[in-house]
Amino acid sequence: MRSTIHRLVIASCLLGWLGLASAQPAPGSAGSGSAVAGSAGSGTAPDTGTAQKVPDVAPANKGQATGTGPTGASQGPSTNPSAPSPGGQAWYDILANKPIEEQGNFWLPRAVNKAADDSDLMYLSVLALSYFFFFAITVAVVYLTWKYRHRPGHKAEPSAAHNDALEITWTVLPTIIVVFLFWYGWRSYIHVVTPPNKAVEIQVLAMRWNWQFTHANGVTDSDLHVPAGTPVRLVMTSTDVLHSFYAPAFRVKQDVVPRRYTYVWFEATKPGTYRLTCAEYCGTWHAQMACLKTDPHTNACLRRAVVVVHAPGDYERYLADKQSESMNLPPAELGKKLYEKKGCNACHTVDGTPRVGPTFKGDFGTKATMADGSTITVDETYIRESLMSPQAKGRPGFPPSMPSFQGQLKEAEINGLIEYIKSLK
Ligand code: CUA
Repeated sequence: MRSTIHRLVIASCLLGWLGLASAQPAPGSAGSGSAVAGSAGSGTAPDTGTAQKVPDVAPANKGQATGTGPTGASQGPSTNPSAPSPGGQAWYDILANKPIEEQGNFWLPRAVNKAADDSDLMYLSVLALSYFFFFAITVAVVYLTWKYRHRPGHKAEPSAAHNDALEITWTVLPTIIVVFLFWYGWRSYIHVVTPPNKAVEIQVLAMRWNWQFTHANGVTDSDLHVPAGTPVRLVMTSTDVLHSFYAPAFRVKQDVVPRRYTYVWFEATKPGTYRLTCAEYCGTWHAQMACLKTDPHTNACLRRAVVVVHAPGDYERYLADKQSESMNLPPAELGKKLYEKKGCNACHTVDGTPRVGPTFKGDFGTKATMADGSTITVDETYIRESLMSPQAKGRPGFPPSMPSFQGQLKEAEINGLIEYIKSLK
């Protein structure tokens, strides 16, 4: 009877080891997840939070693509024309407006970061091990409870005091498994936190509730545009509170901390449009952080900022085209673009309803009462001061939560925003 327990324990240890070995795909295989998890329901959305975003994106995409027709949205990145499309969208904005790539399986979205295979393998190995031991131990407990239950004619067996073979087995095998997991995890951790020397560097500024990505040539954008096949290093900080840069398809998540710099790097393997979210609760609009298009009636977010991975050569084209874009717009139109791109829309509506801040509609030229009781006229000077030192003249009833845009807006852009607000009669 003792030997039965003995055999059971040894068998489950061995099977555990086999379970680990079978979860390990061939080295270098990109689809590390599919062997283990493919059967678990591929095609389902990765999680409930992200599943809601797909319908969010689609209507915005349709609405904006009118004029360009369906071909505009479905064009591959390398075939897009440089010139703005008939619908008024630049080719890189069409890419950013595309629905987010949702391939993957129940466990994980498909990885598009070269360094993600290792962490996926770790995740799936630990998952497989946990599953195996959970079921093996449950089955053993139920079986042994039944087998050694008390019944008439059976005497209680004394427990085994000691068994060398058993003790060595259940010490050595788990040790080997755990040491392997540690070694593999440590190795991939070092890889994940060490960017290669030749990485493209992009500055990231997080604020409530927007991302600002600044590229080497000075171009800034609320969507993150990166080249495929080149390591990209993000140097990140925040103007206000803690945020967290989270791009699931790249397996990168990193807190963004005010007055301090944090880093992530990745090498995108496939051009496309990918999810980007803030993963640190940062206030009222956290769930909609970097919402670039809001439904004016329901406040629902129609499109959030995304990561756009460009085919080789297109990233350089994006940098050049994006740089010339703002120079060719009438001021009020530039301001309208900035209203969405700089995240003003998170707090200020243009339809007359107050949100976190006062609405822009009909504001220009009016007399406004300040928090200290004084009255000022909403004019060019006031708007400019509100952008540079938002807390200098606060309005009653609104929290002092606006970040300063000092140093983040060019002269033409400040002018553009003033003209835009002016135009909202
Ligand atoms: Cu930014 Cu949450």
